[in-house]
Amino acid sequence: MAIVLLVLTLCLNAFALAAESGKGAAVKPESGEGIYRAACTACHGPNGKGVSRSVVGFENPLPDFTDCNFGPREANNDWAAVVTHGGPARGFSRIMPAFHPALTAEEIDRVVEYLRGFCREPAWPRGELNLPRALVTEKAFPEDEAVVTTSINATEGSAVSQKVVYERRFGARNQFEAVLPYGFAGRNGAGWGGGIGDIALGYKRVLFHSLRHGSIFSLTGEAVLPTGDRARGFGKGVTVFEPFASYGQILPGDSFLQFQGGVELPTHTDDASRAGFWRVAAGKTFTQGGGFGRAWSPMVELLADRDFEPGARTNWDVAPQLQVTLSTRQHIMANFGVRIPATHTAGRPVQIMFYLLWDWFDGGLRDGW
Ligand code: HEC
Repeated sequence: MAIVLLVLTLCLNAFALAAESGKGAAVKPESGEGIYRAACTACHGPNGKGVSRSVVGFENPLPDFTDCNFGPREANNDWAAVVTHGGPARGFSRIMPAFHPALTAEEIDRVVEYLRGFCREPAWPRGELNLPRALVTEKAFPEDEAVVTTSINATEGSAVSQKVVYERRFGARNQFEAVLPYGFAGRNGAGWGGGIGDIALGYKRVLFHSLRHGSIFSLTGEAVLPTGDRARGFGKGVTVFEPFASYGQILPGDSFLQFQGGVELPTHTDDASRAGFWRVAAGKTFTQGGGFGRAWSPMVELLADRDFEPGARTNWDVAPQLQVTLSTRQHIMANFGVRIPATHTAGRPVQIMFYLLWDWFDGGLRDGW
């Protein structure tokens, strides 16, 4: 009898121990991790790096969720779109299955949140803080982007100018940028003349970002070099240092605000004067396809600049505009608007402005349509 009791207690103890030790490792099947283990590891691997091609039996490369240069820049909504409707929702392969309706929207949110754990470095700003780019106001988010902006004078003589901006990120918070402007102007009935303007080189650093507060703040130092032919109206003929701050703030209801303010400091003030500028862009994003499709972002910018000279005036412009994502991947976008002088309008043209933007990190120009 005693022996039976002893064996029984031992057994019960063993059970209790097993239950105890199992607790830490137990994963609730409905938790983000539980869903990931059940539905995603076969392809994405338990460590999020993607299992080898020989195991999955398809050629398409799998994303590496542990790569912080990739994961954090993608917004939750983009990942939720892919998990809900499958790879084609963002112009990816069909091999990435659609989990709607097998998983509920809440379960998809949970598994996407679980994916966030794979990059363990909080220094990388999150893609949600990558707000729609306005025509003039510069963003705080560090980008891998190429943008071609065209401005056409609608008043005050014929002129067309274009600006190619190339931006490249390095590390979690840094970005290099180069700006090449060029233009064509009508010469009072003597045909059109063209030329390149002042090339600018800049370095941006994110000083603060928080998804919880919905804000991001950066400083940029830019040098504008006198590469343009000043005599023909292209460029200032003097090197100008242009430090500026930029700030982005997410607001409720997919609205946002962006600020940029800075100074222009020419190395010689004979040819160009010191000046200050400040810019605000306010807008709201509307998304088609139940929140996962094409995004339309109407915005309005208020643009001010003023020379630092006694008696100088502040010029104000207003620029209503509409940005839209063109590709399914949402890495190619366009923005179209008008820049209208609001004060001191004499000699300042109304300009029609538009850009084409390519986030080249997310895919080639022909990918993801
Ligand atoms: C049958 C294999 C397979 C399964 C199962 C699978 N995936 Fe994928 N997933 C892929 C492939 C392949 C890609 C890359 C597609 C491409 O690049 O064209 C991908 C891409 C993704 C992406 C897009 C990443 C980016 O580039 O922005 C996300 C997010 C994702 N998967 C999440 C999940 C989650 C979460 C699960 C489980 C609920 C899951 N996947 C299950 C194969 C799979």
